Amino acid sequence: MSGNGQMESIIVTRDLRKEYVMGTETVHALAGVDIEILRNQYVSIMGPSGSGKSTLMNMIGCLDSPTSGEYVLNGQAVQDLSDDNLARIRNREIGFVFQTFNLLPRATALHNVELPLIYAGVSSRDRQKRAAQALEIVQLADRMDHKPNELSGGQRQRVAIARALVNDPSILLADEPTGNLDSSTSEEIMDVFDTLHENGQTIIMVTHEYDIAARSQRVITLVDGKVEAQMSVDYYLARGLKQPTAASVAASRPASPEAEPARAPEPGPAPEPETAPAPEAAPEPTPPREVATSPPPEIAPSVPPPTATPVDPAPPEATPPAPGTPRPISNPWAPPTTPPADGGR
Ligand SMILES: Nc1ncnc2c1ncn2[C@@H]1O[C@H](COP(=O)(O)OP(=O)(O)OP(=O)(O)O)[C@@H](O)[C@H]1O
Ligand SMILES: [Mg+2]
Repeated sequence: MSGNGQMESIIVTRDLRKEYVMGTETVHALAGVDIEILRNQYVSIMGPSGSGKSTLMNMIGCLDSPTSGEYVLNGQAVQDLSDDNLARIRNREIGFVFQTFNLLPRATALHNVELPLIYAGVSSRDRQKRAAQALEIVQLADRMDHKPNELSGGQRQRVAIARALVNDPSILLADEPTGNLDSSTSEEIMDVFDTLHENGQTIIMVTHEYDIAARSQRVITLVDGKVEAQMSVDYYLARGLKQPTAASVAASRPASPEAEPARAPEPGPAPEPETAPAPEAAPEPTPPREVATSPPPEIAPSVPPPTATPVDPAPPEATPPAPGTPRPISNPWAPPTTPPADGGR
């Protein structure tokens, strides 16, 4: 809440576009996205495969730059920032949780959670203290010395959540956080998100599952790189909808007389979308070097144990981008290449 009692916007995008040139074809992964998300909101992003959800998360998380459009994060226009400043913003403002956990397989839970602090230059003692506190928040105080393969799937994801929280980010971004978990473990993770949200954390989560989205306050549905609907969860609950099918999305357009405002105050209706070509399957943002390749990080065999002072972990791309395509950031935790002008936080 701002001083004048207004709800504060933490994310505003205006006509955000992301195009990938693939030979003679241009993929409009984002085809003009206007969203506004308020501080402390808990928002789900849904939509069919290839609709641009991960691309939007990459933009919001400053992992990649839009082709055009505006993005204001916490009052700062992001689209004009240098790579170094983007790295700083990522480190300070954003916590990432991925479907595949992206933990270092040979590192303990504690060390995995320390990782963003290592990149942020925090001293060893402070790191361990803060990482331990973050693991306590996700109720893993008794598993700090376990490596990922000594943890259950839900526990691994809780380690990843602790890692996302350890820098006290303004926003927690989670791209299909329960995508690799069974339903009861998914509930466990959603309980953690509920608690974080109750404590004021802003959360943006991509999910394909309506039961998961129903735990949030508001659902933004993307279709073909555009916002098709922005509805309160109650709207969908009242209709017993389980999946954001094309029909349910069409039925839930804000223009519908039955459309409801979101539970939390909405900044305004989404602009009506234009047209865009249908996209196809999509990659996740890639993890740090140690886990940049599939198979899942927990079973990746040829990974050296992380050290307390990692070198710049930005890995080579597994697949080279199309000519003229800006490279997305592979490691959300990578530090800026030059020291901050303001001496850091
Ligand atoms: N690096 C890239 N190069 C070319 N096209 C890309 C790239 N990244 C994404 N795309 C395309 O952009 C579109 C949107 O992809 P995105 O990953 O955002 O979809 P998504 O909604 O997250 O899908 P899913 O539910 O399957 O994860 C897809 O058509 C995808 O093929
Ligand atoms: Mg995706």
